[in-house]
Amino acid sequence: MATSLDADVRPIIPDDIARIVIAPKSYTDDATIYGAFKWLRDNMPLGIAQVPGYDPIWVVTKHADIKEVERNGKLFHNADHNPILVDQASDAFTREINGGSIRILSSLTYMDPPEHASYRTLTSNWFLPGRISKLEEQIRVLARKSVDNLLSFDGECDFVRDFALHYPLRVIMTLFGVPPEDEPRMLKLTQEFFGVHDPEEQRPEMATDPVVAAKQWAASIEDFYTYFDKLSADRRENPTDDLLSLIANSRINGAPIPRNEANGYYVAIATAGHDTTSSSTAGGLHGMMLYPENWAKVKADPSLIPGLVDEAIRWTSPVKHFMRNATADTQVRGMDIRAMERLMICYPSGNRDEAVFADADRFDITRSPNPHIAFGFGPHMCLGQHLAKLEMRILFEELLPHLESVELAGDPRMVETNFVGGYKALPIRFKRS
Ligand code: HEM
Repeated sequence: MATSLDADVRPIIPDDIARIVIAPKSYTDDATIYGAFKWLRDNMPLGIAQVPGYDPIWVVTKHADIKEVERNGKLFHNADHNPILVDQASDAFTREINGGSIRILSSLTYMDPPEHASYRTLTSNWFLPGRISKLEEQIRVLARKSVDNLLSFDGECDFVRDFALHYPLRVIMTLFGVPPEDEPRMLKLTQEFFGVHDPEEQRPEMATDPVVAAKQWAASIEDFYTYFDKLSADRRENPTDDLLSLIANSRINGAPIPRNEANGYYVAIATAGHDTTSSSTAGGLHGMMLYPENWAKVKADPSLIPGLVDEAIRWTSPVKHFMRNATADTQVRGMDIRAMERLMICYPSGNRDEAVFADADRFDITRSPNPHIAFGFGPHMCLGQHLAKLEMRILFEELLPHLESVELAGDPRMVETNFVGGYKALPIRFKRS
């Protein structure tokens, strides 16, 4: 950001709170991160974080303010700057290897009006609830296979590693038309893509590098492109009714979709489409273990499963932030935001906002209404939200009748990330019905 923010007249967030919100490690501990968000909502709902090495940023923590910023895609752009918060050195590295541009991936997230709408409409019908519901039987077959696999463990397993990670990946890859033997490669690439700050998910050569995030992103995007170039060429020659064929053969302004934009689309869907869903699924089970009255209720009444799905997504909020930048001087909550200043949209905080959610930290599958913003809001609102909810509903419908009880068999572990992620491990002990 070019402007220097003036501490005399502007709300500067205390250093310890600002560091917590930005540091990937904070997101491994609920008490730390949700404590900081609560402090902000109570004391400085719209404040400026000034952490050395990072651009100064407005931190947006209230549900209403997040919606206000996100609904206005012209006043608040995604991508005049990086739509994801990384340190300044990483942004500089990205520009250096990318011809001066921050747009390392030509996906919807990096687009603003009018370009964004022209690309989003290519697939928006495909993702509508009516169209997605036709996939129910196909997805149910995958869910049953995953449940059979879980039950083959002898009453104890890691719910994430042995179960939740694989099913959403299988779903999205099946809908894409990617062969099952390539799934491990996709899983690894996605984990590297989102786990840039987590030592266990970094590429080995990145461990000691100061611009680790940008380098790892660039490397995994290159790998994705190599992989998808081949599939794309195949679908142009032999189109099927899968999602990859739809994108590969689509046209923009009368011409075939350019290579970078096609690949950006594939990478966005491949990556956004499973880490998020697997984290919410694991969170749904974890929430019921911590608040067991929910388990009893949903076992007695499976019609509560859609409520379980929504609450799991709210409570876990697997997307931690996206960035916006103001395109003109404006005001939010009475604060003067100047053109080109950056805002960090904190979805987990909006989803624990006491002004909207009673007893917000509590996991409650009967919460109604549940107007969470875990899928964002406005023109960029999650393209895959109906698919995510459908696959989670089917999974719980298939899983719950087979489990009589479930309990924690160790401490859950979370991925170190301030962007997308959640559970790394959720050890459980279960009894079959
Ligand atoms: C965008 C969350 C599942 C594809 C987003 C955004 C969020 C989000 C917060 C940004 C919204 C904004 O900027 O306002 C989630 C969560 C999921 C999930 C919590 C699961 C529980 C999926 C799935 C897919 C998907 C299953 C695809 C199959 C996308 C795409 C975008 C997006 C392509 C970019 C949309 C745009 O910029 O126009 N998602 N997502 N997501 N999501 Fe999801």
